[in-house]
Amino acid sequence: GVDARLQAISAAIRVVPHFPKPGIMFNDITTLLLRPKVFKDAVEFFVHRYRDMGIAAVAGIEARGFIFATSVALAIGAKFIPLQKPKKFPGEVLSEAYELEYGKDCLEMNVGAVQPRERVLIFDDLIATGGTLCAAMKLIEKAGGEVVEFACLIGSPKFKVW
Ligand code: PRP
Repeated sequence: GVDARLQAISAAIRVVPHFPKPGIMFNDITTLLLRPKVFKDAVEFFVHRYRDMGIAAVAGIEARGFIFATSVALAIGAKFIPLQKPKKFPGEVLSEAYELEYGKDCLEMNVGAVQPRERVLIFDDLIATGGTLCAAMKLIEKAGGEVVEFACLIGSPKFKVW
């Protein structure tokens, strides 16, 4: 059933304490990717939710967000948009700076990737403070897109989930 599959997905993610810093529990999705059946179930779980929502684009956040964003985009017939760290794109970009625990970072998107009023799903591997997600949302909205939802594999007790 669905619960058994969700449990298998959860169990396939390796949790590494004190990485990359003391006190941080690192959730490693690469162990899930090594199990094709579980990987497929995880992708299908999201495809089932998003296939009939009129989603035109799936935006993935560098780097681990790309894996599921591309898989889901292909399956639902949407375009894939990479949101990347600065200096990765050769052409004109939209930028959104955001605060990290220590310091600042920035996400960029190619101009023209999102058309006005397009419905966009944002994907990442995990949410912690939500700072990265907020920057991604602002980028999509700057381009005139409509953010339908944010999807990730690993949540945080701070955020409500469906
Ligand atoms: C991780 C993760 C998310 C972000 C979530 O990326 O992949 O993108 O942190 O954190 P937040 O909700 O507090 O913003 P990381 O900063 O490790 O970058 P990387 O994917 O390039 O390694």
